[in-house]
Amino acid sequence: IKRVTTSSIKEMKLRGEKISMLTGYDYTMARALDESGVDVILVGDSAANVFAGYETTLPITLDNMIYHTSAVARGCQRALVLADLPFGEYQGSTDKAYEAAVRMMKESGAHALKLEGGEEIIDNIKKIINAGIPVCGHLGLTPQSINKFGTFGVRAKDEAEAEKLKTDALALQEAGCFAIVLEKIPAQLAEEVSKSLHIPTIGIGAGNGCDGQVLVVNDMLGMTKDFKPKFLRQYLNLYQEITNAAAQYVADVKALDYPNENEQY
Ligand code: KIV
Ligand code: NA
Repeated sequence: IKRVTTSSIKEMKLRGEKISMLTGYDYTMARALDESGVDVILVGDSAANVFAGYETTLPITLDNMIYHTSAVARGCQRALVLADLPFGEYQGSTDKAYEAAVRMMKESGAHALKLEGGEEIIDNIKKIINAGIPVCGHLGLTPQSINKFGTFGVRAKDEAEAEKLKTDALALQEAGCFAIVLEKIPAQLAEEVSKSLHIPTIGIGAGNGCDGQVLVVNDMLGMTKDFKPKFLRQYLNLYQEITNAAAQYVADVKALDYPNENEQY
């Protein structure tokens, strides 16, 4: 099996092949996703939401992210494993950002790291890339800044924010990022940015003009109850499937149906 690399991701854009990305947080899911042929598994800090039940991504730690990422990496033979650096580890000093990035690469088995932000963190991104660590940018709705935004609504709807996003995207490309995630921005802006860059954009809630798409796996499998934003396509209703299966098990145990003769020693 040939491993997807940051170079092959960039070549996909040149060939006009769309890039597929899904999040993953554990070994078992990573194995199943890897077998599906998905190009990139993102160990997102959305683990804070869907795995740990926090309202925002702010509480997840570097140690938590290393734990999730190493589990995913052990389950992946083909997909590129991309890991989020968590809030607080890379927005301040360049040295601290570099240390966090190096720890993640040494201890987790990630192949590349994702950082939220543009010009504000460009020196930190450059230092990490200079160390030989591939970086994916992330612009638009950057959930680690939710307290600045106030809502999880669509970003860059006004001219000023759209202009800043375009400048940030070019700065990230210039700094050497291999790709940029664009989250929850108008489709037209995402298409314009994608056309202006030679590196690929991966959209979530950013329309079909992006060079690839990413979804939170728990959302697309219908595991997250009552989360149905407009951009989400739900491929299963796993929450209901799990509830039904568990309820059947409970009923079987109560009715002395499980285990039967063939299910014991
Ligand atoms: O953490 C995450 O799941 C992400 C994607 C939504 C891009 O960053
Ligand atoms: Na994230």
